[in-house]
Amino acid sequence: MESIVRRTTIPGPRSQAILARKEAVVPAALSVHVPVVIASAEGALVTDVDGNTFIDMSGGIGCLNVGHSDPGVRAAMHAQIDRFAHTDFTIIPYEPYVELAERLVALAPGTGPKKAAFFNSGAEAVENAIKFARAYTGRQAVVAFSGAFHGRTLLAMTLTSKTHPYKAGFGPFAPEVYRAPYPYTYRAPAGMSAAEYGLACADAFERIFTTQVASESVAAVILEPIQGEGGFVVPPVDFVQRVQSVCRARGIVLIADEVQTGFGRTGRFFASEHFGLEPDLLVVAKSMAAGMPLSGVIGRAEILDAPADSTIGGTYVGNPVACAAGLAVVAAMERQGLPARAELLGRHIRQHFLRLQERFPQIGDVRGLGAMMAIELVEDRQSKTPAADLTTGVLRRAIQEGAVFLRAGIYGNVIRVLAPLIIAEAQVDEAMGILARALAAETGR
Ligand SMILES: Cc1ncc(COP(=O)(O)O)c(C=O)c1O
Repeated sequence: MESIVRRTTIPGPRSQAILARKEAVVPAALSVHVPVVIASAEGALVTDVDGNTFIDMSGGIGCLNVGHSDPGVRAAMHAQIDRFAHTDFTIIPYEPYVELAERLVALAPGTGPKKAAFFNSGAEAVENAIKFARAYTGRQAVVAFSGAFHGRTLLAMTLTSKTHPYKAGFGPFAPEVYRAPYPYTYRAPAGMSAAEYGLACADAFERIFTTQVASESVAAVILEPIQGEGGFVVPPVDFVQRVQSVCRARGIVLIADEVQTGFGRTGRFFASEHFGLEPDLLVVAKSMAAGMPLSGVIGRAEILDAPADSTIGGTYVGNPVACAAGLAVVAAMERQGLPARAELLGRHIRQHFLRLQERFPQIGDVRGLGAMMAIELVEDRQSKTPAADLTTGVLRRAIQEGAVFLRAGIYGNVIRVLAPLIIAEAQVDEAMGILARALAAETGR
């Protein structure tokens, strides 16, 4: 049985009416990817106000690994909101915050005493991870990588690498941020293997401390174990390990930004586990609370204890309803074995993508780990010229037919899957059928 329901053309009349009102009162920068207005969602399906149902391969940009409207998460949130909704944890503390910290500290890679602090967004957690690292080391500089995405607030935006649309026109940026190359192996220099390119990037990373900034001035290195917005770029293990050992040798705090890769997406609870990475600090957000605004920094207790009293916080940080949702997410992930499910799902998605790659020469690369899978579209496989317009066309057509896929990539030419990990195989097949038809229509094949 098909999941997609089509009652109107997209957008239907009710969506159109609300979107017209939106145009009048919401800033133009908040443009929408799917031109419909949602009424309800469950599992991997989203239904709009006109009664059209879509398969959601985007999961609210990777926030819904447990699926839309998970019953356990809903019940936990209701139970909490019926007791109280807010105190500010540093005014009157509450147990769900402490319990979530206990759970995440136990799940995070690395031995030794760990602690966790909660915030509202990924960007806010990134900013606070840097504050912890600066307080601990007494140093100021931060090294980030090419292709990185860390958020849209001043320091997070500065750490982000892609200029358009994230940085252009928004300077001046935060000082003391340095950039090292990340091994985007699909675009390695001609004749260089992925492993060789990983080592070349690791060498270039280490050279930074000779040519750009003294390592004794560097508080932190921030690394996505797999780049998300950058295009689902998976680095060679050796590269990640070298970054880790260089940081250790030079007393630099290594921050793994797992905002997009965490909570089972890659087949492990945290992607760091694939690389033998034991970061000093782990930044989490997105799927940790199934869409509630919640993020966190988890890491070595001595680093989290370094800032002075009241230097870390915020009115809403670690909101009790969000923490209750977070606890229910961890329980749902463990009960349903979602990291293992991500591994299986990823294999299924990869098979689909590889079949599409045989058919469409415009699919230059199929890559990812676990259910964090993507394809990169190019004009042709020799030049690898990014095919951003083709990507736009394919995504639009798929949405019209009822499958919501997302774009990624430094060149805007990657189609990524961030579907709920509870999605049925049949729903993946249906969405992939639509993707194939959209590719066929846009490429004329
Ligand atoms: C790796 C990574 N870090 C940080 C962020 C920023 O998170 P937020 O949008 O919640 O501020 C994102 C968002 O996509 C992300 O993918």
